[in-house]
Amino acid sequence: MLKVVDLNVYYGAIHALKSVSLEVNQGEIVTLIGANGAGKSTLIRTISGLVKSASGEMWYAQSRLDSLAPHQIVKLGVSQSPEGRRVFRTMSVHDNLLMGAYTRKIDRATLHADMDEMFTLFPRLKEREKQQAGTLSGGEQQMLAIARALMSKPRLLMLDEPSLGLAPFLVQTIFSVIQNINRAGVTILLVEQNAHQALRIAHRAYVLETGCITLTDEASKLMENDAVRQAYLGG
Ligand SMILES: Nc1ncnc2c1ncn2[C@@H]1O[C@H](COP(=O)(O)OP(=O)(O)OP(=O)(O)O)[C@@H](O)[C@H]1O
Ligand SMILES: [Mg+2]
Repeated sequence: MLKVVDLNVYYGAIHALKSVSLEVNQGEIVTLIGANGAGKSTLIRTISGLVKSASGEMWYAQSRLDSLAPHQIVKLGVSQSPEGRRVFRTMSVHDNLLMGAYTRKIDRATLHADMDEMFTLFPRLKEREKQQAGTLSGGEQQMLAIARALMSKPRLLMLDEPSLGLAPFLVQTIFSVIQNINRAGVTILLVEQNAHQALRIAHRAYVLETGCITLTDEASKLMENDAVRQAYLGG
C-alpha cells in the first residue's frame, strides 16, 4: 500500500534520513521505533508532503507521492496525526473536526454521521464539542488530533507519538482505539517511543537509528530481540 524506497532527506547539512526503505501493507499496523532525533517525525512529514526529499521514491498504491502537495496526498487517502497534538487552538472541537474533512466533497448528513462516529470513538470530545481546542487537556487534544485525521477518511493513517505525555490509563485507551481503528479497515503507520505498547499492537516494526533503518521484523520477533530489548524495552 505504501512503499518508500531509498529515501534521503536533508535539513541543510543534516542528513536526517539515509536511504530509508519501508513498506506498509494493506490492513497492517506497522510501527517505527527509534530514539529522540532518529528521524521518525521527518519520515512521517516527508510522506505527508510537508518535507521535501532529496532523492528516493515514495509510492502509495499506484500513485507516486514525491511531487504531490500535502492536500493532494490527503485526498489520496493518506492522513497524519502530527506529533505534539497540533490542533487549531483557537477553533472549537467541532470546527477542528470540520477542518479534518475539508478535502472531501460530502453533504451535511455524511459529515454529521462521520462526526458522530468520532464522538462514539472519543465520547469526551462530544462533551467538549463547543470548547476551544487550545483549552482542552493534553490527552483531549491528542484525541482531537487523531479524530481530526480520521475525518479525512484515510485508508492509511500515520500517527506520530499518540501516547506522548499521557497518563498510563489514557495510554491504554489510545492504543486500544488504534487497534479498533485498524480493525475497522484503516492501515496504520505508528511512530512511538513507547516501544513496548507499540510492538504489542503492531504486526511488523522498523527500528530507525540516526536516519537509518537498522532492523525490521515481525513485531513479536523484535520484542524478543536482545538489541531491541536493551535499547528500547529497558533490558
Ligand atoms: N526543520 C528542521 N531543521 C533542521 N533540523 C531538523 C528539522 N527538523 C528536524 N531536524 C533534525 O533532524 C533530526 C531528526 O528529527 P525528527 O524530528 O525527525 O526526529 P524524531 O525521531 O521524530 O525525534 P523525537 O523522538 O524527539 O520526536 C534531528 O536531529 C533534528 O534536530
Ligand atoms: Mg518526532
